[in-house]
Amino acid sequence: MCGIVGYTGSGSRSASASGSGGGSAAVREAQDGDAAGLAVSTRPLEMVLEGLKRLEYRGYDSAGVALVGPGSEHVAAAKKAGKLVNLQTELSEHPLPEATAAVGHTRWATHGGPTDGNAHPHLADDDRLAVIHNGIIENFGELRQLLAAEGATFRSETDTEVAAQLLAREYRAAGDLTAAMAATARRLRGTFTLLAVHADAPGTVVGARHDSPLVVGLGEGENFLGSDVAAFVAQTKEAMELGQDQVVTITPTSVTVVDFDGRPAEGKRFTVDWDAAAAEKGGFDSFMDKEIHDQPHAVADTLLGRTDSSGRIVLDDLRIDESVLRAVDKIIVVACGTAAYAGHVAKYAIEHWCRIPVEVELAHEFRYRDPIVDAQTLVVAISQSGETMDTLMAVRHAREQGAKVVAVVNTNGSTIPRESDAVLYTHAGPEIAVASTKAFLAQITAAYVLGLYLAQLRGNKFPDEIAATFDELRDMSRKVRTVIERGEYVRATARSMAGADKVLFLGRHVGYPVAMEGALKLKELAYIHAEGFAAGELKHGPIALIDEGQPVFVVVPSPHGRDQLHSKVVSNIQEIRARGARPLVIAEDGDDDVRPFADEIFWIPKAPTLLQPLLAVVPLQIFAMALATAKGLDVDQPRNLAKSVTVE
Ligand code: F6R
Repeated sequence: MCGIVGYTGSGSRSASASGSGGGSAAVREAQDGDAAGLAVSTRPLEMVLEGLKRLEYRGYDSAGVALVGPGSEHVAAAKKAGKLVNLQTELSEHPLPEATAAVGHTRWATHGGPTDGNAHPHLADDDRLAVIHNGIIENFGELRQLLAAEGATFRSETDTEVAAQLLAREYRAAGDLTAAMAATARRLRGTFTLLAVHADAPGTVVGARHDSPLVVGLGEGENFLGSDVAAFVAQTKEAMELGQDQVVTITPTSVTVVDFDGRPAEGKRFTVDWDAAAAEKGGFDSFMDKEIHDQPHAVADTLLGRTDSSGRIVLDDLRIDESVLRAVDKIIVVACGTAAYAGHVAKYAIEHWCRIPVEVELAHEFRYRDPIVDAQTLVVAISQSGETMDTLMAVRHAREQGAKVVAVVNTNGSTIPRESDAVLYTHAGPEIAVASTKAFLAQITAAYVLGLYLAQLRGNKFPDEIAATFDELRDMSRKVRTVIERGEYVRATARSMAGADKVLFLGRHVGYPVAMEGALKLKELAYIHAEGFAAGELKHGPIALIDEGQPVFVVVPSPHGRDQLHSKVVSNIQEIRARGARPLVIAEDGDDDVRPFADEIFWIPKAPTLLQPLLAVVPLQIFAMALATAKGLDVDQPRNLAKSVTVE
């Protein structure tokens, strides 16, 4: 939610070699006089615009930049409602001067509508200070009153402007931007990442974070700040994770971290393990299309390194004592949206393999319903971004109650893994399209690995059974590729249905979360009313929705599976067809039972029942994308949404 970028430097080592470390990415105390060697250039603006382009998936209600350079009387700023392209047009018509430091922001609106006036940055201190913000400042009302009583005037409806005015006041008192930022942060309640530049400190960007993300990019003669590493990965892969409640000050040659009381603190350095090309479209029309095609890799890479030479599952990163894991008597999965549907699939697999009861809970509901959680409870928090505030709050709540938390997360350096007891990283690579695809498959894959690991540890299955299932899991990457290769038939069907205004989805067992995920994809991409139901629930009410020609996707389980699951779903198809529905069926190769009752069949390769979601969801993703494209909609940035939901 909201993308934030900060940059200082000129990209040239000589211009910034005034500090120790010879202009390399030295992490050292900031020194007075850094400003002396500053060289103005167009790079600060270029770097924040490039960062904003890569972060635009986090919000696209407006975009803005602010720049400072030596001797400038004011911050130079530009901002525009709407997507980044509007700001770029504004900048080509009204160019900004060369600079030494800059901040940039792409917004997902909370306080105040998506207008030019509410766009960030917000200026204060006679326009010598600019502030950008991600999060929600909960006490902004009382602070606004207080500042207004002291004579402050406000130009927007945002909570951010209150932070800007407060920072200006603290700066006048302290005469130092870092100390002023710490003092401001102490006054704020809610969640925030704040970045600021001031005309008095032309080589400096100061940031603060509380429950919102901020990472540092360490360059040569330049440094970066970003909501996530995508903001700077094209320039540097050396990064630093910041802890909770820290203030960071960057100059071209230094990075200084303190806590909100001004005491020295430390960030944690890491190297980004994907390159900028992974965050490009790579010849596809959209990030979503590219990410659907990345899915075979997402599955395969998430399995890499999870077994030793004897075939036993090893989870080195699971730092929870084995005796604690053996004693677990309940698992609760907490997650939101697509990640929660991955959790539903995990429930079926883990209960079947490990015989441990698994509950799946929307993270925002979990925390407020007084859940029964204790030291024998294992909480599994699933999140692509690792920043979803609802999930983070559920993690904190679970740990307060004594539970152990395993995070299943895709994004390195994010908050949820840091606040969990252990992490199982999914290796889907950067997911840029707002609607999740490859992260979903990677989450399911990681959940299977966790389930098999627990079954191995607790002796629920023989080693050869676990090894056989793991082999089948390894083979799923190839089968996912096959489904993608068959995508053109799905696309053609979707194009022919561009006029549909309601689509239903049915599934049983693991097909049920797949149905819900298919409906979510269609809602968020094509703005069509779509609902996913458990097929058995149909007769208890939803069947009344079916009338002549109603498209209904049905996920059919493997005919080789167990418990008459397949025949029950085939009966459901007949029931809806008898009432005029148009069944669009996802079925396993060779499943002749469904042929007489389906209007369209999207074939998927044979797979064990529990693993089938990895295949069955893919035609639904392609369908939603193709239908939205046929309607002329932007599949990467659907309306009203943002990729990383960092507000509750
Ligand atoms: C839907 C989608 C969302 C996310 C949800 C959780 O396509 O992307 O429903 O799955 O907001 O996000 P993460 O996984 O980042 O916690």
